Amino acid sequence: MTELLIGKTAIVTGAAIGIGRAYARALAREGCNVAVIDLMSEVLDLPKELERRGVKATAVVGDVSDPKVARNFVDDVIARFGGVDILINNAGKCWVSSSHDDLDKTLADYDGMVGTNLKGEYLMGRAAIPSMIARGGGNIVNIGTDHGVTCGSPRELCPRLDSCPWAESPRPTGGSIVFDIYDASKYGTYALTFAWAKALRPHGIRVNCMAMGATDTSMLRNFLGDAVTPELAATWMRPEDSAQVVVDIIKEGPGGRTGETINLCHGRPTVLEPERAPLYVTPDSIGYDAR
Ligand SMILES: NC(=O)c1ccc[n+]([C@@H]2O[C@H](COP(=O)([O-])OP(=O)(O)OC[C@H]3O[C@@H](n4cnc5c(N)ncnc54)[C@H](O)[C@@H]3O)[C@@H](O)[C@H]2O)c1
Repeated sequence: MTELLIGKTAIVTGAAIGIGRAYARALAREGCNVAVIDLMSEVLDLPKELERRGVKATAVVGDVSDPKVARNFVDDVIARFGGVDILINNAGKCWVSSSHDDLDKTLADYDGMVGTNLKGEYLMGRAAIPSMIARGGGNIVNIGTDHGVTCGSPRELCPRLDSCPWAESPRPTGGSIVFDIYDASKYGTYALTFAWAKALRPHGIRVNCMAMGATDTSMLRNFLGDAVTPELAATWMRPEDSAQVVVDIIKEGPGGRTGETINLCHGRPTVLEPERAPLYVTPDSIGYDAR
């Protein structure tokens, strides 16, 4: 436990299962009070478990892409716990889409994936940021994908697997032919991260993104179906591994990194690597203050 995290209030979205559940557990272990939201009712089991760590916890079944739900959830967290210090924008949806899809499928894909992965983050951020500003600082961690740093096609599904010139790492950057909408939503997350990091830096709020690689959750298992073998799954991260990276980002404290997309690409060690040169500009450097 670090003093920095004890008694802080953390929100984790999409915490019924998978990566979000592991992050909620890790933050409770560090002494944070934790509020979780998910579409699945299993999320309601989590507070009892987390409270065994001596922290306060609350859970709501709800859709982060619904503005009323996002606002009511955050307002309730503020009323219960006094404010918000940490927001982990983790809730996500992922399925295949491509340029060849018909328009009706595309609209459903867009609303489903962009609605949760991007609009949900944006709404939760808008709802929580005023409280962080009032408290003099905070942390936002957005969950992206390693498709920002690789071509993004799971090797198992890649139609050019045998002939792919990048069959061995490092793989090329930039999205996959079967993930156009998912990747667009996650690339949007990188943009939110940069913009928020710049605007919120004067308020002591750090905003980072995790470019998440293959992790053993139901999202990946359902997606790959029969292609999953024990040998393949053994190469994936476990949700607990990247949970420690989230804790380590926050533990850097007020002087820590901001505006960084942390690469947890498949095949790399799951650790918080040293801070890269900041990509953001400051009000001083551009002569403009967003406040
Ligand atoms: N598992 C991977 O390999 C992997 C790789 C890259 C990125 N990610 C990202 O990590 C995050 C977590 O993924 P996971 O693997 O744990 O997936 P998961 O499907 O196991 O869990 C996602 C959770 O989010 C919830 N959720 C989805 N839409 C929601 C909404 N609108 N409102 C509230 N809750 C919602 C789901 O009910 C579920 O509990 C996602 O953003 C995903 O895109 C995962």
